[in-house]
Order: sequence, then C-alpha cells, then structure tokens
Amino acid sequence: MIPGPFFYRVKTICNPAAMQRQAQRWKREGERVALVPTMGALHAGHVSLIPRARKAAGVNGIVVVSIYVNPTQFNVAKDLRSYPRPLAADKKLCYAEGVDVVFAPKSLYENDASTTINETVVSLGMEGESRQGHFRGVGTVVVKLFNLVLPTSAIFGEKDWQQASLIRRVTRDLNLPTRIIIGPTVREADGLACSSRNVFLNKSERQQAAALWQAIGLARAAVHNGNLRGLKRRLIHSIEQQPAAKVDYVEFFDEKMMRPVKPMKGARMALAVFIGKTRLIDNARL
Ligand code: PAF
Repeated sequence: MIPGPFFYRVKTICNPAAMQRQAQRWKREGERVALVPTMGALHAGHVSLIPRARKAAGVNGIVVVSIYVNPTQFNVAKDLRSYPRPLAADKKLCYAEGVDVVFAPKSLYENDASTTINETVVSLGMEGESRQGHFRGVGTVVVKLFNLVLPTSAIFGEKDWQQASLIRRVTRDLNLPTRIIIGPTVREADGLACSSRNVFLNKSERQQAAALWQAIGLARAAVHNGNLRGLKRRLIHSIEQQPAAKVDYVEFFDEKMMRPVKPMKGARMALAVFIGKTRLIDNARL
C-alpha cells in the first residue's frame, strides 16, 4: 500500500481538554514532557529549541510544540490580524524535527474570561512599557499552556529576554513545577536575530535591519574601550542613519532584576527598533 500523506503528519491536538487529558496520561505513565511554546511561523530560532527540548525530555520522553497566536498579548489589532500563520508548513517542520505532538488550539479563552497573570517587577520597562498589557497576555497564556500540557520543562528563546525573565519569575512565584530553559538567539549571517516578523521586511529594510546587531557591537566596543559618554545617544544616532529605522528604546539593565544600569561589562543591552512598519527587538550581554 502506498502510504497516504497522513503518514507524514505530526500528531496534532487542537482541543485544549483533549490536550490536558493526554498530558495527564503522560504524567501517570511517568513520561518527561518538554514544551516549546510558540506562536508559529517557525524559523531557525524555534528549530534550535527543539533539540534542547529533546535533551530535556530524554530520547523516550515527549516533545510538544504549541502553536497559538495569543490574542491577549497583542496591543495593536492590526499586528494580531497580520501575524503570519503558516500552520501546515509549521507542522511539516515539526514532523521533520522529530516533535512528538503539536498542540494547535483554535482558542484558549472563554468569552468571559476574567483572570490574568499580573507580574509587577520584571515586566514593567521596555516591552512592558511600549506594549501595554503585552506581558499580562504572555504570562497568562504561558500559565494556561503549562496547565494544559503539564510540561516537566519548557524552552524559550533568549531573543525575548524580558519575556524569558517574566516566565522565570511567574514560574518561581507561583511554584509551577516546570523547569525553564533558555536557548541562545539564532542569527542570520549579518547578525539579524531570527524572528517571525522578519518576513515583513522588504529587501532594503532587510539590509537596514542589521543595524540592531551593529548597535550591540558598537556598545560592546564602547564598554571594552571605556568610551561610555553619551553612548545611548550615539547608538540611537547610528541606528537612525538607516533611512527606514526609528528607535523605540535602547536600554542597559541588570539581567537578573531587569533594573536599568549604566552600560558596563556584564550588563545586558536591549533595543526595539521600527524598520519601516516592522518592529524588531534584540538583546545581548555586553
Ligand atoms: O514568544 C512567543 O512566541 C510567545 O510570546 C509565547 C511565549 C509563545 C506566548 O504566546
């Protein structure tokens, strides 16, 4: 018999209650479960997290990738509407990468849902300030995903450093029994961090987008040389030499507490920049 196309499909669960029942079965059977939460439009950055999940789950454990464009973390309706949703391609990729289950719910919220996760320290500045309500949405959906998938470990990308810090904090503060693992940022040849939003850049914008990584390089050199006067202003100026670039913020902060600090070795720098209409973020330790 010639195998039908379903032979190549990764097991997909769409119903949240069915996901939870499956997760409870895994728990009873003592399976280790590693979850990679995503909003789909998978790229090399996401793919790099899958072997980390496999390592955490073990060869016989279960690797779950969740794909859900979470409406509550978008503060701009158009951004939510236009977010890429190539579900079939994502599932194919998950199959090729040895993922055991894709959890792809259509919706995760009751119409009258009235409970949220409200973290009040690490989620305040930077993305929390520029995107009001964003981290409430992220914290809430991640706790929901943890309650549905019951993962032993969950893997997030370093590119969203503030998000990763928030999730670590929520997991600690609410005693969630999930180990949080952070995978390093994956970059294109010119240093641009892989992101689902990069598909929105036209050719010229794509070239200009390298300015974020170049700014991190400039900051590292300035810290190395002790040439710190007006550093933030100089970085903004150098980024905005690109005609399509408009800086939202450049910040230096303590990576544990997320408090602003002076630029120095060991501090982390984060930045958000509009390249045309596309908002990109990046960060790295100096
Ligand atoms: O990083 C993302 O893709 C999302 O913020 C996450 C963690 C999957 C929550 O929706």
